[in-house]
Amino acid sequence: MAFLDQSVAFGTKGYAWLPDLRRRHHGRPVPLRFGRQPAVAISGPDAARFFYHRGHLERHTALPSPVVDTLFGRGVHTLDGEAHRARKALFVALLMNENGVDTLATLVGKIFDERADGWRGGGPVTLFDEAARVLSDAAARWTGVPENDLLTSDLVAMVEGFASVGPRHLRARLARMRRERQLSKIIEDVRRQPPTDTAVSRIAHHLENGYLLDSRSAAVELINIIRPTTAVAWFAAFAGHALDRWPGTRARLREGDDAYTLAFVHEVRRFYPFVPFLGGRARRDLAFQSTDVPKGTLVLLDVYGQHHDPRVWPEPYEFRPERFLGRPIGEFELIPQGGGDPRTGHRCPGEQIVIATLGTLVQRLAKLDYYLPPQDTGIDLGRVPARPRSGIKIVVP
Ligand code: HEM
Repeated sequence: MAFLDQSVAFGTKGYAWLPDLRRRHHGRPVPLRFGRQPAVAISGPDAARFFYHRGHLERHTALPSPVVDTLFGRGVHTLDGEAHRARKALFVALLMNENGVDTLATLVGKIFDERADGWRGGGPVTLFDEAARVLSDAAARWTGVPENDLLTSDLVAMVEGFASVGPRHLRARLARMRRERQLSKIIEDVRRQPPTDTAVSRIAHHLENGYLLDSRSAAVELINIIRPTTAVAWFAAFAGHALDRWPGTRARLREGDDAYTLAFVHEVRRFYPFVPFLGGRARRDLAFQSTDVPKGTLVLLDVYGQHHDPRVWPEPYEFRPERFLGRPIGEFELIPQGGGDPRTGHRCPGEQIVIATLGTLVQRLAKLDYYLPPQDTGIDLGRVPARPRSGIKIVVP
């Protein structure tokens, strides 16, 4: 069974696919075929360490083109070695500084407050849609890109369509094409002006080996900031789900308890399904836990499975922010945005942005007086990316 091509099983089972396979193999590495290629599925902190070990895996041949043409674009995600190091330095400089993170989180809070004022006394609003709008407006303002309504829906569409076939996927491709074209023009305009400190200007004027990026690649990297910032809306909807299911978590958030808020944010990122797995290709003959991983094998790191493994997280299906209180988190333990060192490897450089913006939204939500009208808040694990079916409708009286 494991040697049948598993792409169809992923299409139907979604997040449960790899955890099911791994359970049948008693947690050991699972050899399989994926997209007609030999692959091995692994999971757990040791597996994440193996996955991110320098020199083990490459990315540019591992990412399927449907994912690259929708979610990522042909930019930093697809680079290896020296080319990756040079491009990553741009993101580290832009995203991994406290000042920038605080400015963006403050903007998110301000825009949320403005929009929330408009909800009072009205009908139901959908938390997912509202959060996406708040986040994309904040990201646009922060990077220096003009805001508009279509921008939000295109950014959401790029994330929605990466793991699907049919209309959802087509919408994602069109959204990416449209936005890469629009932002390429903006990059060209910005290049005619003196450099400033905005992200759009810094990307437009960024030099690699003494040359500017071509305007399309610069646009892709700009989208690599505003798209995932907008994607925090998935976590915001999940946070709304958690506040509804576990109302006892609300009190400490309402008090503005920052340590508890951080723990709540980590638990949202652990508990709820977003990134199902990550992929890389073996650069040479390797072995993991006595299983051969020949050169060229696709290595799939089961992120969702790792976050629900009782050997790593006692009672993994309980939502318990307390599990993150008063202890450091291992580099390879909690990996919703990848593992290892974000400065040198592929780990997400936007992790502090996610933590800060989600923390801002979560505290505001906890302080807001609202109720959920009847709706289907169920989460279908077969759909990637998953989210509560209703998007979490709220009424603010
Ligand atoms: C919604 C929340 C987010 C999730 C779930 C997420 C997840 C991820 C994951 C899983 C990776 C790939 C790790 C790997 O390949 O090993 C990644 C990479 C990346 N993320 Fe995020 N991310 C999020 C938010 C952000 C934000 C807010 C930004 C920027 C503002 C960002 C920018 C990037 C970039 C530029 C990369 C490529 C890094 C590289 O290849 O070196 N992400 N993210």
